[in-house]
Amino acid sequence: MGDLILGIETSCDETAAAVVRDGHDVLSNVVSSQIDIHARYGGVVPEVASRAHVEMMMPVVAEAMVEGGVDKDDLAAVACTVGPGLIGSLLIGVSAAKSLALVWGKPFIAVNHLEAHLYASFLEKPDMELPAVILLVSGGHTMLVLMEGHGQYRLLGQTLDDAAGEAYDKVARYLGLGYPGGPIIDKMAADGDPEAVRFPRAMAKDGYDFSFSGLKTSVVNYVRKNPDVADVDIAASFQEAVVDVLLTKAQRAVHEFDAKGLCLAGGVAANSLLRARTLELAEADGVAGFVPARSMCTDNAAMVAAAGWWRMASDGPAPMDQGANSSLALPTYA
Ligand code: KG4
Ligand code: ZN
Repeated sequence: MGDLILGIETSCDETAAAVVRDGHDVLSNVVSSQIDIHARYGGVVPEVASRAHVEMMMPVVAEAMVEGGVDKDDLAAVACTVGPGLIGSLLIGVSAAKSLALVWGKPFIAVNHLEAHLYASFLEKPDMELPAVILLVSGGHTMLVLMEGHGQYRLLGQTLDDAAGEAYDKVARYLGLGYPGGPIIDKMAADGDPEAVRFPRAMAKDGYDFSFSGLKTSVVNYVRKNPDVADVDIAASFQEAVVDVLLTKAQRAVHEFDAKGLCLAGGVAANSLLRARTLELAEADGVAGFVPARSMCTDNAAMVAAAGWWRMASDGPAPMDQGANSSLALPTYA
């Protein structure tokens, strides 16, 4: 019946649990989002998030087990995100996962949240050919990674300031559009003119690092000076600049490193324009293009169970004194 892994994810504002067989066959994937709780504050309030995780953790795990039709005895291991993320939030998941592993007599697998995002692609495409260029874009990170083998990541570049999702969220907050900004701007952009304003593409021509803080400032300044320009046009023009710079670099990396594929990962990978352009570029370049389902791009536990299955094979179980680490880095080489 293969290896069934219970995955647990609580690094930010989603309480999630999933059961996945052999790193790709998703039996259940339960996500309890706290978006409504945090929306009134315009962003995630860490203490509020921790309390909501405490309330939702066990019901979400129970639902994932029942929905997956799985008994605790069927599990090969319990895998959980140990970082990076909000420390109070992480600790809820890690404590729950270690307790369950201990009482059920199962191995405990420590999962890096960023690696989990990368494994969202393998849920649907377990035999994806490597090396692949993966653009990991979330609320906290923007990284261009060359995945050369399982667990082998060459870091080509990352953001020097704001993450791509953070830029979406900050621009949306400035325009008074609500939280989280990504999905709202994505939707508005569909009705706007992406060429209405030519916002700057910082560092588009040099290297693989990114910078989004100047773009955010330039949107704010433009709106201040031109209050009559429609929000939909600002949204579309801002989005065009973000996607343009992300994919200009990703495409250059595909060429330079002779990659077999181009993939997206992380919450911003749910973006309509980024998804469509990624597939267009990959096709034009004759490489495999892959965009995980939207539900697998934003935080979920199926990706944690998938990454956990691979980590179990390479590293084995984590010790029971494994803690949470809010600033855990993706294990990369230059
Ligand atoms: O990966 P994720 O769920 O959480 C982190 O680990 O950060 O990413 C959340 C981020 C937020 O900044 C949100 O605005 C952004 O992903 N996001 C989007 C879209 N959906 C979510 N950004 C652009 N377009 C979207 N459709
Ligand atoms: Zn995430």
